[in-house]
Amino acid sequence: MTRAKQVIRADVQGMTAYHVSDASGFIKLDVMESPYRLPAWLAKEVGDVVANLEFNRYPVPTAHKLRELIKDVMHVPAGCEVLLGTGSDECIQYITAAVAREGAVVMAPAPSFAMFQLYAQFYRLPFIGVPLNADFTLDTERFLAAMVEHRPSLVWIAFPNNPTGNPFPVADVERIIRAAPGLVVIDEAYQPFAGTTFMPRITEFDNLVVLRTVSKIGMAGVRLGYVSGHPEWINEFDKTRSPFNVSVLSEAVAIKLLENKAVLDAQAAIVCAERDDMVAHLAGLDGLTQFPSAANFVLVRVEGPAGAGTRVFDAMKRQGVLVKNFSGGHPMLDNCLRLTIGTPDENRAMLAALKSALS
Ligand SMILES: Cc1ncc(COP(=O)(O)O)c(C=O)c1O
Repeated sequence: MTRAKQVIRADVQGMTAYHVSDASGFIKLDVMESPYRLPAWLAKEVGDVVANLEFNRYPVPTAHKLRELIKDVMHVPAGCEVLLGTGSDECIQYITAAVAREGAVVMAPAPSFAMFQLYAQFYRLPFIGVPLNADFTLDTERFLAAMVEHRPSLVWIAFPNNPTGNPFPVADVERIIRAAPGLVVIDEAYQPFAGTTFMPRITEFDNLVVLRTVSKIGMAGVRLGYVSGHPEWINEFDKTRSPFNVSVLSEAVAIKLLENKAVLDAQAAIVCAERDDMVAHLAGLDGLTQFPSAANFVLVRVEGPAGAGTRVFDAMKRQGVLVKNFSGGHPMLDNCLRLTIGTPDENRAMLAALKSALS
């Protein structure tokens, strides 16, 4: 197979494909999914909808009905538009493609969500990751200075941030939006657990759009994300979208579930209460530093030499609990584990495994 070696980009050959651990048989607390399934009555209604779909037809390319429903239930400001993606991952791709002019620079705090950098690389754009402070708070002055130096066309702010879990101060994010020479995307994947949002403020700025996903509120398998903003931005992103990107299945299921959003909201509220409980329990554990979270996960650092985090991760795995291990990735995250909030039972099992792994 030398032909592939000649044809495929050298940097792609040097990469490894996005790794997702095999979670079969584990208590799965690694990728910030909702631990809750649908109530039986709603699952049945979804089944009826799916049974009546026309699988022989392409989806309606504008997905008009779903977009209008999202505008309504997610309180998108009047006059703003919505673009749908197969997960917000795909929206990140579309936005990056749309700004990928010669000389464009992409910037984000670091560490943050990996796909911001990955798509910049795919579109051959320089990516500047501006380091957070050691406690993962935003170094606002450093970020503002980096914007002056690099003049980014595109700035990503995950709010709250992944994998650190903290929301940056609203006033600091606002300073970044005002000072940015180009587009700022506020990625609110964890907004259902945070409360604070920039959504109502989109119309205050001519360079702001808000990215969201339904993945964290019980619909990760549906694969649906959206970006909301002034039509001037959204109409341009739309040109980089694959014509039928959201399947008839995803569209129909999302409509049914978002019409019943109260069910998903109630589940998210339990997750928030469980997170607060988890934070209190983690505070009582020795050998661990936890970082403030407004998301459906908590980032912790295992105290000790290099390898301490991986040892705890492996010991938890042996007890049947899968969390996310960040050692070996971004250096600021060495010995860090990200604990997704699960059901009360799963959280108890996770804490027990963590305690025993630390002892
Ligand atoms: C900050 C952030 N943005 C976007 C995503 C992508 O979500 P999805 O593609 O499931 O919509 C994630 C997933 O974990 C995330 O953490």
